[in-house]
Amino acid sequence: MSSISLTRHLIEAQRQGQLTPDLQLLLEVVARACKRISVAVGKGALGGVLGEAGQGDSINVQGEAQKKLDVISNDILLEANAWGGHLAACASEEMEHSQPIPDGFPRGNYLLVFDPLDGSSNIDINASVGTIFSVLRCPDGVTAAGDADFLQPGHTQVAAGYCLYGPSTMLVLTIGHGTHAFTLDREQGSFVLTKADLRIPQETREFAVNMSNQRHWEPPMQAYVDDLLAGKDGPRGKDFNMRWVAAMVGDVHRILTRGGIFIYPWDGKDPGKPGKLRLMYEANPMAMLVEQAGGAATTGRARILDLQPTSLHERVPVFLGSKDEVEAATRYHLQHDGAHA
Ligand code: F6P
Repeated sequence: MSSISLTRHLIEAQRQGQLTPDLQLLLEVVARACKRISVAVGKGALGGVLGEAGQGDSINVQGEAQKKLDVISNDILLEANAWGGHLAACASEEMEHSQPIPDGFPRGNYLLVFDPLDGSSNIDINASVGTIFSVLRCPDGVTAAGDADFLQPGHTQVAAGYCLYGPSTMLVLTIGHGTHAFTLDREQGSFVLTKADLRIPQETREFAVNMSNQRHWEPPMQAYVDDLLAGKDGPRGKDFNMRWVAAMVGDVHRILTRGGIFIYPWDGKDPGKPGKLRLMYEANPMAMLVEQAGGAATTGRARILDLQPTSLHERVPVFLGSKDEVEAATRYHLQHDGAHA
């Protein structure tokens, strides 16, 4: 049987009424941009793309040092999406405010929000990084989309995905009809469907969390992880393994492949921050991909896809992956809240 390219997969989905021609174009443009980012990432030191963007003074809106590849990836995505006529505006981790499609180009009905290069502390050590994106509808009647138009709950996303730049480059995508994985055929230059309809095992013995923050966690999170670490002698009755890629794309990809729970909880290091990960371009797209693969995603208390965003760069605690395990972690938090109400 011949291989199924991303284009064929999207055209077949379009024939089944699952996406519009404009959304198909948008996804193909994002995929093409990811190929260019993959080339830039792959060149590493030979491409002169490693290291910080400025002379130590280049800080993004999150207060994080920008890497050269953050800036390059952001520019590639903006430039690729400017002229197709499918978008009303873009927003990015790297920009304080959303950016309307430049004058002179037609404007479309979708909004694209992305983290151009997630896990960028991995860049200089030649470990996995990725691009995360989410597609929303531009609200009816809006002709000049601004930040407020992006503030829609995650369950309204029409598509979400990521591209993982690892030993191979993989695009993992959902348009609300399952989660599908494509591998970049570098010789042909096209993404090929390599796993249709990913399913996350309901149970797991593997968790992913940055344990160095343990002392800053709140009591129910401490109690939950204590019980995981107690293994088969503890209340959970089984031994757990731990993994941490330090790039959300890598951890979520492992979970979509073989199950597990990924956690970035609230912690008290900076009590003003409700979490580390950003709702609009990290938590929401990953939650959609995970739910579409049979998993679950919560803040430890509430379903992520039901949250009403209040700002473009808002942060949230994230618990996602194998359904039973996410429900178990959520139970620890809700029971604690109930006992302290
Ligand atoms: O975007 C934030 C991010 O890089 C995620 O991709 C990753 O999961 C996390 O931060 C890593 O955090 P830490 O630096 O605590 O390991």
